[in-house]
Amino acid sequence: MKLGNREYNLKTDAVLLLQKGNHSVYWIGTDSEAVLRNNIYLIKDGDEGMVVDCGSRDDFKSTLSRIRQIMPIRNINRLFINHQDPDVSSGMVDWLKLNPNIEVITSPNINVLIKHYGVGDYKYFNTQRNPSLTFKSGEILDFIPSPFMHSPGAVTIYHRTLKTLFSGDIWAAIAMEWDLIVKGDFDEHIESMDFFHTDYIASNKASRNFLINFKDKEVNNIFPQHGSIITKKNVKKAMRYLRDLKCGTDFFKEISDEELSFMN
Ligand SMILES: [Fe+2]
Ligand SMILES: [Fe+2]
Repeated sequence: MKLGNREYNLKTDAVLLLQKGNHSVYWIGTDSEAVLRNNIYLIKDGDEGMVVDCGSRDDFKSTLSRIRQIMPIRNINRLFINHQDPDVSSGMVDWLKLNPNIEVITSPNINVLIKHYGVGDYKYFNTQRNPSLTFKSGEILDFIPSPFMHSPGAVTIYHRTLKTLFSGDIWAAIAMEWDLIVKGDFDEHIESMDFFHTDYIASNKASRNFLINFKDKEVNNIFPQHGSIITKKNVKKAMRYLRDLKCGTDFFKEISDEELSFMN
């Protein structure tokens, strides 16, 4: 794949996505060929690194080898965890084994669950108590909760200056054929997003409650945890997709009091 002036091999390479001075964002993998592949990202700020959506334990080896292309592993000092699912968070077990000083950033609702990976104590950054994080460079991340999208405690990252949203499972896509960035027809991409959203996202109400966060925020890129990255030309279409999404409990049948009268 060609991006900027560079040709990348997605099987092995870390891909530089965004850069502003000594602050940059990379795609770190995965090399899995499963239909539900994990996107792992790295935010590098000077000599410090934060892994976003650290992926599953199976991804750990390839994550390390790709990060080594960019910076020493010992300089990774933060892990961000969108929610507790193993595909997005179980890699924390290996990260904390390697470096117990890594700070884990997530919501309190997720933190009580990921403790059950049996990792003992770790430094915890509570996104509810501290809704933003400022890097040494002055770049700022805002943590935006996305309840029931799909986990009750899920939390996304909005990168304030790069106007980029690390959306976790929101705008995730499932497909055999896959491009790092949505290039062609967005309607075709919608089909791959439907495979995920119909079953995994709670409801249209939850989707709209998430979307309202972006009333006054410009979004230039969406970096989901599965499937292709969505760039500016498709962001509006992606938002309209969520606005109109029918999923999860939208398909539930209304159950009347009468039907439940067996409890009386
Ligand atoms: Fe998930
Ligand atoms: Fe996921």
